[in-house]
Amino acid sequence: MTDLSTSYMGLDLTHPVVASASPLTGSLDTLAELEAAGAAAVVLPSLFEEQVEHSEMVLDGTLVLGHEFGEATDGYFPALDDYNTGAEEYIDLLVAAKRELTIPVIASLNGTSPGGWSHYATALQDEGADAIELNVYHVAADVDLTGAEVEDRYLRLVESVREAVQIPLAVKVGPFFSSPGNMARRLEAAGADALVLFNRFYQPDIDLDRLTVTPDLVLSTPAELRLVLRWLAILEAHLAIDLAATTGIHDSAGAAKALLCGADVVMMTSALLLYGPAHIGTVVDGLRGWLTERGYASVDQARGSVSHRTVVDPSAFERANYMHALVNYGS
Ligand SMILES: Cc1cc2nc3c(=O)[nH]c(=O)nc-3n(C[C@H](O)[C@H](O)[C@H](O)COP(=O)(O)O)c2cc1C
Repeated sequence: MTDLSTSYMGLDLTHPVVASASPLTGSLDTLAELEAAGAAAVVLPSLFEEQVEHSEMVLDGTLVLGHEFGEATDGYFPALDDYNTGAEEYIDLLVAAKRELTIPVIASLNGTSPGGWSHYATALQDEGADAIELNVYHVAADVDLTGAEVEDRYLRLVESVREAVQIPLAVKVGPFFSSPGNMARRLEAAGADALVLFNRFYQPDIDLDRLTVTPDLVLSTPAELRLVLRWLAILEAHLAIDLAATTGIHDSAGAAKALLCGADVVMMTSALLLYGPAHIGTVVDGLRGWLTERGYASVDQARGSVSHRTVVDPSAFERANYMHALVNYGS
């Protein structure tokens, strides 16, 4: 049987399937269900800086990033107040999760100011988080801001948190950079131990009756995994740090594809919300079955074996794939 044991940012995991940040990781009951179902690790929902104390956001009076940089106050989660609460409740959840679970507990932070990010990252480290995931969620709506300026802000954020904490640090980013590969390298240089690819930007809809914007949250579909696969495949050879796949992993086939493209771990939310926490066990069993059937001794052996570096025709991950798909549509 294939050995599924995996290391993620130095954390020893029994296998590579992790429950990503969601309401399921936001209560002790469902965290326990996820562990019982076989999750290798859990990422707690993000602690949103805006939900903590407003006064603390202006910690040193140098609010370099402004409110718009970080989780959108509108449009990401309609019922933020009911979902995550303040820092105290978050710390309570973290402490309880650390007490009750044996698997690694990764705390997630969604800040807006460099001071705030470092401040809360230190608090999460002090309360026992095994690692921190920074959820950098920025919609670049300021048309005066150049891509380079936006990127610099990301990098300064990561550097400031890196300076503040010693535990492993993952950075969850979206795919919308002109050169995602170059940005990934610079995030690595800024001190990230892993990149979580990709943050999913929730798209608001329009209500035609009320003529309003409706911040409707739509769960992912397996088709969304393809963007992640491409960048895993391209990046795995160029980065020394770990890669986590998030978005579109609904079953063991999706998990296997992400690993083959170079993911160190695969993360799941939508499928667990759709099918329940026990689904994670089904995915782990399916993954183990698939790898065993094909004779892989370990997950390490399979990892990256269908990446940009290893496939016969790497251009299939690039433009040639596009041309081929258009030309051959329907045939
Ligand atoms: C209801 C809900 C709540 C979420 N909360 C968070 C969060 O607090 N922090 C975060 O980084 N991501 C959050 N996410 C994003 C997920 O962790 C995950 O990255 C995203 O859903 C894509 O993965 P999936 O295709 O498996 O759903 C949330 C997603 C959903 C659907």
